[in-house]
Amino acid sequence: MASPVNHHLEARRLAQKRLPRMVFDYIDGAAGQETAASTNAADLALVKLAPRVLADLQPPDLGMAFLGKPCALPFGIAPMGMCNLAWPGADLVLASMARQMGLPLGVSTAASTSLERMFKDSGGQAWFQLYVSGSADAGLALAQRAAQAGYDTLVLTVDVPKVAPRPRDVRNGFQMPFRMGPRQFVDFAVHPRWSLATLWAGAPALANFDGGTAGFDRHASRAGANWAFLERLRGQWRGRLIVKGVMHPDDAERIARMGVDAIYVSNHGGRQLDAAPSAISALHQIRQRLGPNFPLVFDSGVRTGEDIVKALACGAHLVMLGRPVLYALAAGGEAGLQQWLAGLREELWVTLSQLGLSRIQDVGPQNLASTPFPQG
Ligand SMILES: Cc1cc2nc3c(=O)[nH]c(=O)nc-3n(C[C@H](O)[C@H](O)[C@H](O)COP(=O)(O)O)c2cc1C
Repeated sequence: MASPVNHHLEARRLAQKRLPRMVFDYIDGAAGQETAASTNAADLALVKLAPRVLADLQPPDLGMAFLGKPCALPFGIAPMGMCNLAWPGADLVLASMARQMGLPLGVSTAASTSLERMFKDSGGQAWFQLYVSGSADAGLALAQRAAQAGYDTLVLTVDVPKVAPRPRDVRNGFQMPFRMGPRQFVDFAVHPRWSLATLWAGAPALANFDGGTAGFDRHASRAGANWAFLERLRGQWRGRLIVKGVMHPDDAERIARMGVDAIYVSNHGGRQLDAAPSAISALHQIRQRLGPNFPLVFDSGVRTGEDIVKALACGAHLVMLGRPVLYALAAGGEAGLQQWLAGLREELWVTLSQLGLSRIQDVGPQNLASTPFPQG
């Protein structure tokens, strides 16, 4: 019987208990000293919302639109590779959740379920996330395959020209496929429930590549995603194009001029550059540079309903959730995810009511009391 997982800290605690250390650290870890990951959280904590009282509150309306499509909630699920390590069949749980709840779901190039299956099971809610790990032509061919599968939204991730070493992964000898040394053997043996369930479901492979796990080298350069590639991709991809991993206003401005539909502000949850500024401070700067209307997606460090509202107030049009989704799945599978999402909705409602608002669409900079970044 799964325990109630209505808060991200409880979900994380249970995930840590249930997952082999190597898997928990792959999800939870970050680059370097993990400073960027903690700065994401620290700066979000320093964004203060302005409580307002005596408003005539109506039943809450958490729906909004993003790029002309209705979204039932102001958030979606960030693309993450190898989710099935958190829970057997996690990808499909996410797909059916996205379909039922009307949430955008990022499907990673490195997903453990094929992009075709994910699109179908998500009822068309899935966005395909593209890594250019081989030649530009191979990248364009993968985008073409996504278009054929029906995807109308492509997310090009540009902040992994090279995968940053994550000290916890290095220490644990994390690699795909797993290399079974004595250390890994003990780690799996002391987590028999996870090990048996994962073995039973079939060890997760990289389903978008013919060679399975062998078809995609996690450590190969992904620097094929350059300006020239973006231009070619924009010329070829007829659907909505989002560029993920943008932190600098100059880059944002240039990308916006290239006719992309949205920019996804993110520092990859602190998993790439330990010295990166917080993603929320970059969001604030980029919003100032691009003006109030250019569509911006945001992730990195978002854990609660208050965090979502803070990101919206700092200029995001849609907020994506990363690690906490995997904590909730690892903690309790589908039931765990549902409990956690129910908690998140409740937090959104409470936060809105504290701001004197009934509709999430009404959140804006006027709801900020103070921020840790210069206004101007
Ligand atoms: C386990 C894991 C795998 C990830 N895999 C990908 C990926 O394949 N493609 C990608 O664009 N981002 C990937 N990311 C980054 C997420 O999309 C997102 O930017 C990040 O998790 C947000 O930060 P948060 O975890 O603090 O919410 C991954 C993140 C995690 C935790």
